[in-house]
Amino acid sequence: MELNELVKIRRSVRSYSEDRISESEIRQIIACAQLSPSWKNTQTGRYYVALSDEAIETVMNCLPDFNQNSSRNAAYIISSYQKGLSGAGSDEGDLWGAYDLGLQNAYLLLKASEMGYDTLIMGLRDFQGLKEYFGIPDDETVLPVIAIGKRKGEPVFKPRKDPDEILKIR
Ligand SMILES: Cc1cc2nc3c(=O)[nH]c(=O)nc-3n(C[C@H](O)[C@H](O)[C@H](O)COP(=O)(O)O)c2cc1C
Repeated sequence: MELNELVKIRRSVRSYSEDRISESEIRQIIACAQLSPSWKNTQTGRYYVALSDEAIETVMNCLPDFNQNSSRNAAYIISSYQKGLSGAGSDEGDLWGAYDLGLQNAYLLLKASEMGYDTLIMGLRDFQGLKEYFGIPDDETVLPVIAIGKRKGEPVFKPRKDPDEILKIR
């Protein structure tokens, strides 16, 4: 699928059907995300996936009510990054680990869209509960929980700013 089409299809989806993604499809999506660039190729992004009923319920319990409702029936991908590697040598430190993970997550979302899956990034979550359940080590910073599944109904397009509001060319 052509890139412009793909980025239009990708929307934050808040209503999912009961079709659950398979482990092999998750693996394909993560393999694509791994092709994104990172600081000195440090590749500090890490993924924890809830696919079983038990794991999905546990992750759901780490979400506030409105995110639980938006992601019902979906599986979950939790993404984190190893601290202290990306950005080493710069005085901005760990900021670059978050930057790298954001890039990796963008590839992940677009690959999911290409494969006919929809996603919702959720920044509001109880990261402590997730760390305990998946055994995420303390040297990782947990960022979003990403719901993944198939859309039920059509999501609304959220309008973007005029490019001239965000762009300066000299
Ligand atoms: C870092 C980040 C955190 C977000 N957290 C949430 C969240 O907790 N719950 C939610 O419903 N949407 C969340 N979103 C989705 C945004 O609201 C959504 O991307 C934005 O409104 C633009 O809509 P679109 O993704 O359909 O283009 C988050 C998005 C990002 C990038």
